[in-house]
Formats: sequence, structure tokens, C-alpha cells
Amino acid sequence: MYLSSASFALCTLAGLFLSTVEAASEVVQAQMPARTSYEGTSCKQTIFQHSFASSYGVPYVGIYSPPKDCSFTTTIFNISVKSRGRQYDRLALLFLGDIEVWRTSTAMPSQEGIFWSYQKDMTAFDTLLRTDQKVIFDLSNVFTDLYTGAFNVTLEALYYNDKYISELTPPDKIFPISALASSKNISSVMSLPDDNATVSIQLPRNVKHAIVSLQASGNGAEEFWYTNVPTEYVNTFPENPGWLFGYSPFREVQLLIDGKLAGVSWPFPLLFTGGVDPGLWRPIVGIDAYDMPTFDIDVTPWLPLLCDGKPHVFGIKVVAFDSTAKGNVGTIGQNWWVTGTVFVWLDTHGKQTTGSGVASHISDPVFGYHPQATTTTIGNTTSNSSFYFDLTARRSLSISSTIHTSSGSKVATWSQSLAFTNIQNMTDLAFNQSLSMLTTGSHTDSFSSIRTSYSYPLNLYSSYVIAPASKITLSSVLALIDRSLITKGINLLSYLSGIKLGSESLSTRQNAESKYYWNETIVEGTADDTGLLEQWFSYAGKSGLRSNGVRKFSRHLKEVDDEIVFDDEAWKTMNVPATQPLPYVEGEPVV
Ligand SMILES: *[C@@H]1O[C@H](CO)[C@@H](O)[C@H](O)[C@H]1NC(C)=O
Ligand SMILES: *[C@@H]1O[C@H](CO)[C@@H](O)[C@H](O)[C@H]1NC(C)=O
Ligand SMILES: *[C@@H]1O[C@H](CO)[C@@H](O)[C@H](O)[C@H]1NC(C)=O
Ligand SMILES: *[C@@H]1O[C@H](CO)[C@@H](O)[C@H](O)[C@H]1NC(C)=O
Ligand SMILES: *[C@@H]1O[C@H](CO)[C@@H](O)[C@H](O)[C@H]1NC(C)=O
Ligand SMILES: *[C@@H]1O[C@H](CO)[C@@H](O)[C@H](O)[C@H]1NC(C)=O
Ligand SMILES: *[C@@H]1O[C@H](CO)[C@@H](O)[C@H](O)[C@H]1NC(C)=O
Ligand SMILES: *[C@@H]1O[C@H](CO)[C@@H](O)[C@H](O)[C@H]1NC(C)=O
Ligand SMILES: *[C@@H]1O[C@H](CO)[C@@H](O)[C@H](O)[C@H]1NC(C)=O
Repeated sequence: MYLSSASFALCTLAGLFLSTVEAASEVVQAQMPARTSYEGTSCKQTIFQHSFASSYGVPYVGIYSPPKDCSFTTTIFNISVKSRGRQYDRLALLFLGDIEVWRTSTAMPSQEGIFWSYQKDMTAFDTLLRTDQKVIFDLSNVFTDLYTGAFNVTLEALYYNDKYISELTPPDKIFPISALASSKNISSVMSLPDDNATVSIQLPRNVKHAIVSLQASGNGAEEFWYTNVPTEYVNTFPENPGWLFGYSPFREVQLLIDGKLAGVSWPFPLLFTGGVDPGLWRPIVGIDAYDMPTFDIDVTPWLPLLCDGKPHVFGIKVVAFDSTAKGNVGTIGQNWWVTGTVFVWLDTHGKQTTGSGVASHISDPVFGYHPQATTTTIGNTTSNSSFYFDLTARRSLSISSTIHTSSGSKVATWSQSLAFTNIQNMTDLAFNQSLSMLTTGSHTDSFSSIRTSYSYPLNLYSSYVIAPASKITLSSVLALIDRSLITKGINLLSYLSGIKLGSESLSTRQNAESKYYWNETIVEGTADDTGLLEQWFSYAGKSGLRSNGVRKFSRHLKEVDDEIVFDDEAWKTMNVPATQPLPYVEGEPVV
């Protein structure tokens, strides 16, 4: 059983036996386990073990070979990482050839050292895992006298000969939408807005289902995209230059087929482990930090076109709100890292999938936008004292065709409906910034009768004090965060693969308050840092596994000042309280 609370036990042990030497601590992500027990493997192997020190642009490159004389149906990858020293959080991308199979961020290490491991079910990539693959793991790290933390990574594959309730049907073919750069021993990630993120793919003629998974994350000037302001307001506080980033807080990741819109993702606002307040995410990292979510789009309605035996162009674009552009849709800042994966299931008894032309009903995004800068005049000087704006967006789309396969004709439809609200108010030259955001959406696909819906509320308040250049005082941030990830419905990829059956529901909330101080020379915590983070996590679903499948799981945990103070896990669901408005408005407690 997985029910032990490893981190809690370790802290206790460390306290008992290691009074002088501080032990490394585990940094966890609250997540549903990939299975109820990891015992009983048919076989396992280490894919690689590598220390990422000065690894900027120098990925690990090696070969994955399938295990010999080992019968298996399920594959789990177990990543485990150790680090000690001073270091920022980093992003890491795992590729099998040109196909990205896992994107993770790292935790920020400490002088005492940290470690974590995370298990991801890779069964959907079965067709790749049965032949040799070039493994490229890009964890670009910087290693200097100041930044001394290397990330020591072990990636292990665990194979199980599981029985499934209905048939296990992982995709027959997998195609990358990527830079196709593995032959050069580099990552195939594409960087927007600069790259031309398109690829020409010739699908087999007999496809019955096809989906595209999109992986996209904002980095650099786009790391906190959801706190960005409309471009015409970046200079609202000229006394604080470079603090605000433009291109608005709205992002839409688009999938294009032959230049036509096939679906969109309004991304989950991921907070990396150095995000807003680096002290906050230890020992509990942000939602999805170790396994960054993909968004799946059903492209089955496109099959009559895609199965014509000719190459077609799959493209990924990321756009933002721009009040000055036509249709209010414009470009983004530097940069978004994107890839896509086309998963294909073959109609084994069919020669060619045919059908009607694709009928698209796509409404352009409809925006509501109200900016308001307030000025104050002191003596003969007028300046902006606060800047408020609300931005709302909604859109819906439906793409449909009639497809003929060996099992007959049917209407295949992919429909999406999305809504977005982002309200920000900043004072104190934008050093004080409050954000209230809500992204919601739903979709229906061509193969299940299940409507999938999701909701990502995020309330965030941050108040920064930046030390003057003399560096005799520390800078600080006070951060309040309350946010949730709520989904109900199916994961298209695991549902079509038989890994999951029917509807699943997942709900998790993180509520945190912290204060962090840092030295402009060295970003690491101080003894004065305080932090409190409580997380609730609850899952219910139908596993396709006959045994060891997770049907219900919950975890309730809390950290206070870098220590876990409680951690309850159970094979049952729990009540996850809803994200609340923040208790302060611009520093004033609500009485
Ligand atoms: C994952 O790997 C780490 C390090 O090798 C190991 O301690 C841990 O037990 C492994 N987890 C599983 C589920 O096998
Ligand atoms: C990481 O690996 C390097 C090189 O093998 C080693 O010197 C270092 O001690 C390791 N760090 C940790 C935290 O295990
Ligand atoms: C790519 O890496 C592999 C494994 O390290 C090596 O054998 C090969 O020579 C490299 N190829 C190129 C083009 O650098
Ligand atoms: C991007 O690539 C596609 C083909 O993959 C090509 O048709 C198009 O012209 C390219 N666009 C630019 C701006 O290079
Ligand atoms: C106030 O903000 C507006 C909008 O960003 C800007 O154009 C203007 O220059 C600002 N005024 C001052 C005095 O900084
Ligand atoms: C603004 O007021 C200050 C002090 O009262 C004065 O020194 C300065 O010349 C004034 N500036 C302008 C542009 O009027
Ligand atoms: C910041 O760290 C540097 C390097 O350790 C040190 O020289 C400096 O005194 C520190 N500054 C403050 C304000 O603590
Ligand atoms: C923004 O914050 C300021 C300072 O707290 C407040 O005076 C103002 O009313 C707020 N604006 C809005 C629209 O909430
Ligand atoms: C900024 O936030 C801090 C901390 O919440 C608060 O004490 C201060 O009054 C705020 N400043 C303004 C101008 O609202």
C-alpha cells in the first residue's frame, strides 16, 4: 500500500537521529498515485542517471531499449531527483526522439539538500516503448560559485503485466508536432513567438480516432502571464521601469490544421517552485509542478481530410488579448515553449477513412475590457497611484464531419466552450498587485457521451519591497494565494487507451500565505521567512486496471515554515473547500 506518509516519517526520523547533521528533506507534489501498489513489477530498468550541473543547452542523450524477455502491459516512469546547494527552479523536458513525453519543473534546493520522486503512467506511449528510442532529457541548469545546486536525476521504468477491465488500446501511432531536432541531440521544443511551430504530417489512410495533446508553458517574460497587463499600460508607473509585462493576462494556445483552427487551450496558471515567493513551495510544490498538464483536442472530425494520403500541416500558436489589434487578438511576449503530439488509433479493417468536409462553427473570442488608472497630484507632480483593469473573454467552437470507417458512418464532433475573467488592481508603483482570475471551460468529443468541464480559480496578492542598490537591506515579498484546479469528465488519451473508464473528477486547492526575504546577490531563503500552505486533494474515477487501479484518493496536507505539520492520505475522497476571495485588499485586512 502507498498509504504511508513518507515525508512525515522522514522528518521524525531526522529529528530523532540527526541532531547535528541536517537531513535532506522531501519536496512533494500532492497527486493521485499512478496505482495503489508499485509492487509486483514484471521487470524494471534504469533509463538514465545523470547529474545536471552546467547543463544549459546540453541535454542528457542516451538510448532507451525495451526490456528483454519481459511481458508487460503497463509502463510507469519513476523520476527521482536529488539536489543540494543554492539554485533556482528549472524546467526539464523528456523526449523520446522528437516526441515530448513529460515536462516537469524542479524544486528549489537548500543547503541541507532536497529530494523527490514522481511516478507517471506512460502506457499511452506503449508503441514507442516497444522499440529503441533516443532519450533526450533537457534540464538546462546554471552552475557557478554562487549557484551550487546540481540536479541529480534517475529515471527508471517499471513494467507490469496488468490485466485491464476492457481492452487496453494505446494509440497505434504517435507523431510529433515539434522542432524534429533529435538527430542533432537537442530538445525538439519550439519557442513562440519566434519559431514557426508547424510540422507536416502524413497520417495513415485508415484512422478511426485521432487526438492532439498540446504542451505549452510560459517562460521568461511570460512566466507570470496571468499577472501581465495590457501592453499600453506597461509604463503606468515610470518610477518602477520594467516591472510590468505586457500582452495582457489572456493566453490562448491554438491548434491549427492546414492553417484552420482545430481547438484551443486556455491554460492552467501554473506556478513554478520559484514562483511569486520561492519560500512557499517547500516542502509542498505548486499544483502540477512535477507533471505539467497537457490539453487534449479531438481531431477525429478532420479524418476525412487527414486520411487522404497527403501530408497536412499541424501548427501551434499562442495569442493574447490586444485592445489595439483587429479582433482584439495579438501576439505574446518572450517566450512560450510548445510541442504537440498526434495520437492515432487505426481502423484495422478499413482501407481509408472518408467522409464529408469539415464544418466549423467558430465564434471569435468576445472580450470585455475596462482599464482605469487613478492619478494623484502632490504639489506640482501628478503620478498614477493605482491601476485597475478587468478583462473578460469567452468563445465557443464546434467542428464536425461525417466519417466513414469499416464499422459504418457517424457524425464526429468536437465542441468547446470557454470563459475567462481576470481582475487586477495595483498600487504602490505596482509593487502591490492583486489578481482575481477564473478560467472555466467544457468540451464534448466524438467518441464518448461525456461532457468534460474544468475550472481554475486563482486569487493572488503580492506585495514586494525591493531593496535599494546599496544592498544593505534585504528585499521581501508578502504573498497570499488561494487557487484550485477542478476537473470533471474524461482525459481523452487515457479514456481512448482503456487506461481509464468513464468519468473522473479531481479537485485540489492550495491556500497559502508567506513572507520571504532575499539578498539581491543571492536568492535563497533566510531564517526570518515564514510560510503557511494548506492543500486539499480529492480524486474519484474508474481505472481500467483489474487490480491496483486507483478509484478514490485524497490527501490533505499542510506546511508551516518549511515543515510538513500534517499529511493525511486515504483511499477515499474528501471535501475540498472552495477557493475564497483573499482576506486582504491591498494590504488592508477585511474586518
Ligand atoms: C523511484 O525511485 C527512487 C530512487 O531510485 C526510489 O527510492 C523509489 O522507491 C522509486 N519509486 C518506486 C515507486 O519504485
Ligand atoms: C550529485 O552528483 C554529483 C556528481 O556525481 C555529486 O558530486 C553530488 O554529491 C550529488 N549531489 C547529491 C545531492 O546527491
Ligand atoms: C548524439 O548522442 C549520441 C549518444 O551520446 C552519440 O553517440 C552521437 O554521436 C551524438 N550525435 C551527434 C550528432 O552529436
Ligand atoms: C512555416 O512552415 C510552413 C510549413 O511547415 C510554411 O508553409 C510556412 O511558410 C512557414 N512560415 C514561415 C513564416 O516561415
Ligand atoms: C499613467 O498611466 C498611463 C497609462 O499607462 C500612462 O500613459 C501615463 O504616462 C502615466 N502617467 C504618469 C504621470 O506616469
Ligand atoms: C515643482 O515644485 C518644486 C518645489 O515646489 C519646484 O522646485 C519645481 O520647480 C516645480 N516644477 C515645475 C515643473 O513646476
Ligand atoms: C548578500 O550576500 C552577499 C554574498 O554572500 C554578502 O556579501 C552581502 O553582505 C549580503 N547582503 C545582505 C544585505 O545580507
Ligand atoms: C484599487 O486599490 C486601491 C487601493 O487599495 C483602491 O483605492 C481602489 O478602489 C481599487 N480599485 C478598484 C477598482 O477596486
Ligand atoms: C502595500 O501592501 C502592504 C502589505 O500588504 C501594505 O502594508 C501597504 O499599505 C500597501 N501599500 C499601498 C499603497 O496600498
